[in-house]
Amino acid sequence: KSIKLFCPATVANLSCGFDVLGLCLDNVGDEMIIHKTNEPGVRITKIVGADLPLEAEKNVAGVAALSMLSQWQTDFGFDIEIHKKIKAGSGIGSSAASAAGAVFGINELLGKPFEPKDLVWFAGWGEHAASGSYHADNVAPALLGGFTLVRGYNPLDVIKIDSPPDLFVAVIHPQIEVKTAEARAVLKKEVPLKAAIAQWGNVGGLVAGLYTHDYELIGRCLHDGVAEPYRKALIPGFDETKKTAMAHGALGAGISGSGPSIFALCKGLSTAEKVADAMSDIYETIGLPYHRHVSPVN
Ligand code: HSE
Repeated sequence: KSIKLFCPATVANLSCGFDVLGLCLDNVGDEMIIHKTNEPGVRITKIVGADLPLEAEKNVAGVAALSMLSQWQTDFGFDIEIHKKIKAGSGIGSSAASAAGAVFGINELLGKPFEPKDLVWFAGWGEHAASGSYHADNVAPALLGGFTLVRGYNPLDVIKIDSPPDLFVAVIHPQIEVKTAEARAVLKKEVPLKAAIAQWGNVGGLVAGLYTHDYELIGRCLHDGVAEPYRKALIPGFDETKKTAMAHGALGAGISGSGPSIFALCKGLSTAEKVADAMSDIYETIGLPYHRHVSPVN
């Protein structure tokens, strides 16, 4: 028995929601094939498109799968084949796609003993292996789709959030690598009260805007005083790209996950295309190769 999967890319943080908010891209992702085998255990048999460890204990897909199988013993095993299309260190959830794909696929092959929210927990351990910290803001949207909120980590409490039908995301990925661990190392360990108040006001406002389809409110909430001020130095052309996105009609823009990708939320596909083109022009001018994506959020 085998299963072939699409493992979607994701945008985490969404400016105000560091480590808690995320959304799923519809049309960007990896492919994974998982075969059920007679031999117990998890093996990564093939990785195409990236230079990543094949040892299951060192591979995010393997770590996530092993975390799940520690709760569900089997006398058979799994071979995982990964076709990476999302580059590592891109800021659009490359490790999350692998971790989420592995637990989703194996759960299907087991006859679905686990709920999607349990899968988020197991996949988070893959993220832990990749970045040294447990966070689920990419694996949650990869597994649940759409917009998600990690309401709490202890215990993990993941909520799927409604979003308006005409919400699109434009993503520009300048081709440099930013390691999540390094992008976390530049952050301050403490947040001044004033910045915290602004941040939680924006998270609440953003969720309200998503539920009430208030695009203007959504835009007003896309600010980040916690990570962006420190991380933007790692991304060439960030300020200009964000400014250009806003000038071309984006509701808001910011760093996608830990960067270097930059996202812009937009109302309507044509605006999202225009914004993606304008952001691309910045990198054409800088002379830095890039990838450009436009996707619906749902
Ligand atoms: N919330 C995480 C971060 C996402 O910003 O570090 C990166 O995977």
